[in-house]
Amino acid sequence: MMETILVTGGAGYIGSAAVRALIEKGHDVVIVDNLSNGKKKFIDSRAKFYEVDLVDKENLAKVFSENKIDAVMHFAGYKAVDESMENAVKYSDNITGTVNLLNMMVKYKVNKIIYSSSAAVYGIPKEFLVDENCALSTINYYGFTKLASEEMIVWYSRIHEFKYISLRYFNVAGDAGLNYTDPDAKNVMSIIMEVLAGKRDKFVIYGDNYDTRDGTCIRDYIDINDLVDAHILALDAEENGIINLGTSTGVSVKELVDMTMEVTGKKLNYEVGSSREGDPAGFVASNEKAKKVLGWVPKRGIREMIKTTYRAYFG
Ligand SMILES: NC(=O)c1ccc[n+]([C@@H]2O[C@H](COP(=O)([O-])OP(=O)(O)OC[C@H]3O[C@@H](n4cnc5c(N)ncnc54)[C@H](O)[C@@H]3O)[C@@H](O)[C@H]2O)c1
Repeated sequence: MMETILVTGGAGYIGSAAVRALIEKGHDVVIVDNLSNGKKKFIDSRAKFYEVDLVDKENLAKVFSENKIDAVMHFAGYKAVDESMENAVKYSDNITGTVNLLNMMVKYKVNKIIYSSSAAVYGIPKEFLVDENCALSTINYYGFTKLASEEMIVWYSRIHEFKYISLRYFNVAGDAGLNYTDPDAKNVMSIIMEVLAGKRDKFVIYGDNYDTRDGTCIRDYIDINDLVDAHILALDAEENGIINLGTSTGVSVKELVDMTMEVTGKKLNYEVGSSREGDPAGFVASNEKAKKVLGWVPKRGIREMIKTTYRAYFG
């Protein structure tokens, strides 16, 4: 059924890819983004765009009164972990923005939300393979804002009877054909691309003495196109739920380095540094629940993510 979907953060990396997929499915899309990290060039011209901050209740109300919204995909949020530990005031906007959005949904009787949560809600997990029942324990303020928002959504759903799916993404990588390059590279894949581009001297592997197949940490990478597929499936989900999005397998940092050189044909300047306190040897999402509830399985592998990211950076 064709619906009008409000996409918060629709000028950002993941939101812009979701907007395009929604439009291609025949939906109408309304975007709200404050352009703090998003870019005008990523805003799909077929969508209706409001440059509004979610903390600005008055202007957010206009978005709801001027459009008949059927469901919300809530991507908007600040996401730099280090910055969240220096500026709680800014990162509290992730929570305030979610509260404002939920209140508008109640007022305008919008009864479905898909929320971008994060693996950060697990802190430093004890388990290698993390499922949704593993202990939640945030170790940075960013993670807390994600967990707080998740919990609010559950409560609002109980009290105001709307449907929700919160998706806990692991590391999102790859390009959705929009040639996205990260303005503030913090994740491994974009850092690697910046080393290849000569913007940084070298890539550092933090420790090679972990109890893993090659001694380096194992992490889980999910392709942005697979992630968007999961959101589209979540729109039609029958049940509510909080669901991990990852591969159940993972890739070691050394494997990622080797595969980058193999796929790009370029030499990556890297060194092995000392391990960082609190870095778990493995941190991989079990995707059993995603399979069961959404019928979702990741289709693209790490080589494809490297290839499309490389293309986005180097043309
Ligand atoms: N990229 C990842 O690996 C990853 C992993 C886990 C979770 N997430 C979550 O997914 C969501 C999208 O991430 P992304 O990588 O696309 O980030 P992004 O920064 O590219 O996109 C977020 C967008 O939200 C906008 N925004 C931020 N605060 C806002 C506010 N108060 N009001 C209106 N707009 C606001 C920004 O301008 C930006 O366009 C975020 O909530 C992030 O926490 C991302």
